[in-house]
Amino acid sequence: MTLPIPASFLFFLFLLPMLSADTSADREALLSFKVAISDDPLGAMNSWNESTPLCRWRGVTCGSGTVNLSLNSLSGEIPSALGNCSGLLHISLWNNKLRWRIPGGISNCTKLETLSLSENYLDGEILPELGSFPKLQFLGLYSNNLRGPIPSTLADISTLTTLDLSSNGLRGGIPPELGPFPELQSLGLSSNNLTGGIPSSLANISTLTLLDLSNNGHGGSIPPELGHLSNLTVVFLFTNDLTGAIPPRLGNLSKLTDLHFYENLLVGEIPPELGGIKDLNFLDVYVNRLSGRIPSAIWNLSSLILLHAGYNQLSGPLPRDLGETLPNLANLHLFGNQFEGGLPPSLSNATGLEVVEVSQNRLGGVIPFNLGKLQSLTWLILSDNSFQAREEEDWNFITSLTNCSNLTKMGLQNNSLGGVLPAAVANLSRKLDTLLIERNHIGGRIPEGLGSLGELSMLRMGRNLLTGEIPASFGELTDLKHLTLEDNKLSGEIPPSPGGLSNLSKLSLGGEPAGGEDSHRTLEA
Ligand SMILES: *[C@@H]1O[C@H](CO)[C@@H](O)[C@H](O)[C@H]1NC(C)=O
Ligand SMILES: *[C@@H]1O[C@H](CO)[C@@H](O)[C@H](O)[C@H]1NC(C)=O
Ligand SMILES: *[C@@H]1O[C@H](CO)[C@@H](O)[C@H](O)[C@H]1NC(C)=O
Ligand SMILES: *[C@@H]1O[C@H](CO)[C@@H](O)[C@H](O)[C@H]1NC(C)=O
Ligand SMILES: *[C@@H]1O[C@H](CO)[C@@H](O)[C@H](O)[C@H]1NC(C)=O
Ligand SMILES: *[C@@H]1O[C@H](CO)[C@@H](O)[C@H](O)[C@H]1NC(C)=O
Ligand SMILES: *[C@@H]1O[C@H](CO)[C@@H](O)[C@H](O)[C@H]1NC(C)=O
Ligand SMILES: *[C@@H]1O[C@H](CO)[C@@H](O)[C@H](O)[C@H]1NC(C)=O
Ligand SMILES: *[C@@H]1O[C@H](CO)[C@@H](O)[C@H](O)[C@H]1NC(C)=O
Ligand SMILES: *[C@@H]1O[C@H](CO)[C@@H](O)[C@H](O)[C@H]1NC(C)=O
Ligand SMILES: *[C@@H]1O[C@H](CO)[C@@H](O)[C@H](O)[C@H]1NC(C)=O
Ligand SMILES: *[C@@H]1O[C@H](CO)[C@@H](O)[C@H](O)[C@H]1NC(C)=O
Repeated sequence: MTLPIPASFLFFLFLLPMLSADTSADREALLSFKVAISDDPLGAMNSWNESTPLCRWRGVTCGSGTVNLSLNSLSGEIPSALGNCSGLLHISLWNNKLRWRIPGGISNCTKLETLSLSENYLDGEILPELGSFPKLQFLGLYSNNLRGPIPSTLADISTLTTLDLSSNGLRGGIPPELGPFPELQSLGLSSNNLTGGIPSSLANISTLTLLDLSNNGHGGSIPPELGHLSNLTVVFLFTNDLTGAIPPRLGNLSKLTDLHFYENLLVGEIPPELGGIKDLNFLDVYVNRLSGRIPSAIWNLSSLILLHAGYNQLSGPLPRDLGETLPNLANLHLFGNQFEGGLPPSLSNATGLEVVEVSQNRLGGVIPFNLGKLQSLTWLILSDNSFQAREEEDWNFITSLTNCSNLTKMGLQNNSLGGVLPAAVANLSRKLDTLLIERNHIGGRIPEGLGSLGELSMLRMGRNLLTGEIPASFGELTDLKHLTLEDNKLSGEIPPSPGGLSNLSKLSLGGEPAGGEDSHRTLEA
């Protein structure tokens, strides 16, 4: 196994006797690993025997010093003796069923550059001895059951480029010693039970490109010093208890593409400086306590694909040129804020828009008639606002939306939509599964054609001024699970075709007494 040997297999065989001392140590170390494996259901190690040369063992690549038995359902443990592998550079054992503690002795593999043990059932604490690898570059331990603190000795592995300890049960703080890794590019500590905040010493890892501290219990504020990490492209700080404001200095992270702050306790305004990050694709701040207006520099970030600012206290109007300044936007989520004014018709310029969710705001006016240009639209959620329709033409947006063949959800409930639902509603996408128009002032008859929207599973039309009979075509809505029509002025037979509506789990027809004698009832299953 002695390495590196950039040679053909024959050349290597020829060389073997001369290298027997080293090779036999590697062989012994790997055989001790085989002994520690209690179950090898795929026979991955069948060829690991004395009669087969080491370099022909399955998963062993002598030329590169690699042992790779990932994805083999191996059960058992990692023996300390594996640390005798003097020639190995890369050990990949991710996605197996290895248990117990990672032995400290494995760091005796002094040439090791890659140790990938992710997606196993390893437990116990990370031993301080693991900090003594002299050449390790990649340490992947994500998705195990590791407990206890992160040992500060890991900072001694000065060669590390990737450290991934995500998805374990690690506790305590991030040791401030994890500062000056000279080469570290990727630091993943997400989904643990880490607390104590983000140490500003992380700002000394100047080579960092990915920082993932998400899904922990970190409190305190975001250190402004992180703005010095000029090579950062991806920052995940979501789902913690971070407080304070978003530091304006983060606007200096000119290579950022992903910035995810959602589910924290952040306050203050979104700093306009973030608008200077010209390649930012994803800005995700939902469920925080941010307030004020979204700065125009953010609305101007033409690279944005996703802007998710739901459930904050943001206010002000949506800019009139929104769709022109954000031409690449695919997801716009602004629900649960205090935005006011109208939905800008320029939105239709962002032709890649798939999701528009602006519910629970103070938006109003007429819904733009040109949304049909958004050919990729799948969700249009405008509910719980004050959108209006008085004249027949105010409903033209429905005709336009019949252009959107991928529309699956439309939420218009709890607005100020009056007049009559246009017959064109029946020409909406065949994929529409949710149509919510309850709690408006919609009168007239229910368009007969609605029954042709065969994918509908939720149709809520209650608390309007609808009259006439429930269309017989409703019997064709075989996927309908949830139908509410209560508090209208409907009459006639209910439901029109009981056989057809056999999948219903909720049927609500009650409320103000209407025509049919059976109408005052609610069925829920
Ligand atoms: C040793 O490995 C070879 C494959 O390289 C296999 O054919 C043979 O059966 C193995 N011998 C034993 C004793 O398992
Ligand atoms: C190891 O083997 C797995 C499964 O064959 C493969 O997907 C992976 O790319 C290999 N290399 C490393 C470094 O894991
Ligand atoms: C490592 O190898 C040495 C000599 O080859 C041996 O004495 C020692 O027991 C081995 N270590 C383990 C943990 O097996
Ligand atoms: C690791 O190496 C040190 C010194 O070379 C030795 O004392 C120790 O026993 C080794 N550990 C294992 C598990 O082989
Ligand atoms: C974190 O701690 C809580 C409470 O101590 C526990 O319920 C939870 O399972 C822990 N999470 C992890 C990922 O260990
Ligand atoms: C970060 O590096 C600076 C020097 O570049 C040093 O003064 C400071 O102590 C370091 N901070 C930490 C917390 O490691
Ligand atoms: C940042 O990235 C560039 C290009 O990848 C590289 O040349 C430079 O050394 C990096 N800077 C630091 C501080 O790592
Ligand atoms: C960004 O960095 C420059 C120097 O590189 C500095 O002058 C400026 O103050 C920084 N901006 C912020 C908001 O910290
Ligand atoms: C928005 O972008 C345009 C063109 O790039 C620029 O002229 C304008 O000053 C920017 N506005 C803000 C507030 O950044
Ligand atoms: C953007 O939309 C507005 C309103 O629909 C329209 O007048 C304008 O021409 C569009 N701009 C571009 C660049 O398509
Ligand atoms: C419907 O889509 C076509 C492009 O396929 C577009 O030209 C037209 O303007 C759209 N109609 C509406 C009402 O937006
Ligand atoms: C509609 O959805 C399908 C499947 O997701 C996709 O392939 C297609 O490109 C979409 N159409 C438009 C106009 O976005």
